[in-house]
Amino acid sequence: MIELAPSLLSADFTNLSKDIKVLNENKIKYLHLDVMDGNFVPNISYGPGIIKSIRKLTDMVFDVHLMIEKPERYIDAFVDAGADILTFHYEASIHPHRTIQEIKAKGIKAGISLNPSTPLNVLEYIIKDLDLVLVMSVNPGFGGQSYIKAMDEKICDLKKIKEDLNLDFIIEVDGGIKTGNVENVIDRGAELIVSGSDVFKADDITSRIQEYYSIFSKYVR
Ligand code: DX5
Ligand code: ZN
Repeated sequence: MIELAPSLLSADFTNLSKDIKVLNENKIKYLHLDVMDGNFVPNISYGPGIIKSIRKLTDMVFDVHLMIEKPERYIDAFVDAGADILTFHYEASIHPHRTIQEIKAKGIKAGISLNPSTPLNVLEYIIKDLDLVLVMSVNPGFGGQSYIKAMDEKICDLKKIKEDLNLDFIIEVDGGIKTGNVENVIDRGAELIVSGSDVFKADDITSRIQEYYSIFSKYVR
């Protein structure tokens, strides 16, 4: 699969329902929701209350990316808000194995995200439990940053691990993705593509999404 997960962080916060309607009309399957606590990352975004409100507006898969310290404290809150995938940062949880099990026990998918400087080998003994691995291709905290080129190799290495172990976790890539560089990450193994500013700051969001779909059509979907 190759799918686009627009990041709501760059949407129009004065009119979220308008932007979500556009995503619905364009048959977007995944909505990426960035939760920031001003502690793990230097920015603060939104929490479970907002997510619960927009849950009423769409059937999209809610791909919740927690950039918060001690994410295990908030599993229930985000499950209750309607998360379908709950991804936390390896660097933010002291007992990632336990956190994964607690998320899965709620009947939703569990993902781990790695900062650009965190090596893949920290996942060695938990990777078989994961439904998704999120490769951060910028330092988390803000939309609109530039893709870190060194993540090319990390995505390739992750794909190799997935193939060698015959696993089916989703490879998600987040940060600095635009129509101009999305093929680069797909060629290396990205399957779920997060794009924030490139989608929502486009003059015409629908045309931009269609440009992504046109690129994706070259690959098996
Ligand atoms: C960054 C967030 C991203 C962000 C991506 O910390 O995790 O999801 O919204 O934004 P762009 O696509 O603009 O880099
Ligand atoms: Zn994100």
